[in-house]
Amino acid sequence: MFRISQILKAAQIDFTLEGDPKLADTSLMTENVLSMCVKEAVTNIVKHSSATACSIVIEPSSTDLIVTVKDNGIGMGGESMYSRGHGLRGIRERLEFVNGSMQIISEIGTIIRMKVPNVFRSQEKEAGI
Ligand SMILES: Nc1ncnc2c1ncn2[C@@H]1O[C@H](COP(=O)(O)OP(=O)(O)O)[C@@H](O)[C@H]1O
Ligand SMILES: [Mg+2]
Repeated sequence: MFRISQILKAAQIDFTLEGDPKLADTSLMTENVLSMCVKEAVTNIVKHSSATACSIVIEPSSTDLIVTVKDNGIGMGGESMYSRGHGLRGIRERLEFVNGSMQIISEIGTIIRMKVPNVFRSQEKEAGI
């Protein structure tokens, strides 16, 4: 998350973070996937959105982890955006790889909501991963 805040600061986009970015209980695989996806989403905000603000909200529950990346920029044109580049498709495929999913909501700006099952590290250890 430190890099994320640096990227946004360099682009003069206000950044707010809600929730604990350490994800201490989440599997390493899921954590890596999420951090790549958040980085792509934030890079997109810098490149495409003309936003002045970005917020990231991390919400863990007993079964899932939901990470919402939101900007107040020009918004996105829905499914057709997947064919424009590899970034969004990459996010979707990576999340599917860890049994997660993503949702794009375009209202005022863009909201990317990523959901992954909260596989705990201890379970991974038991499985010998
Ligand atoms: N936060 C955003 N705000 C506005 N448009 C966006 C945002 N993120 C992505 N887009 C649009 O979706 C398209 C596809 O994004 P992506 O798959 O990452 O490809 P790339 O970044 O290489 O163009 C972008 O070209 C842009 O038009
Ligand atoms: Mg991109």
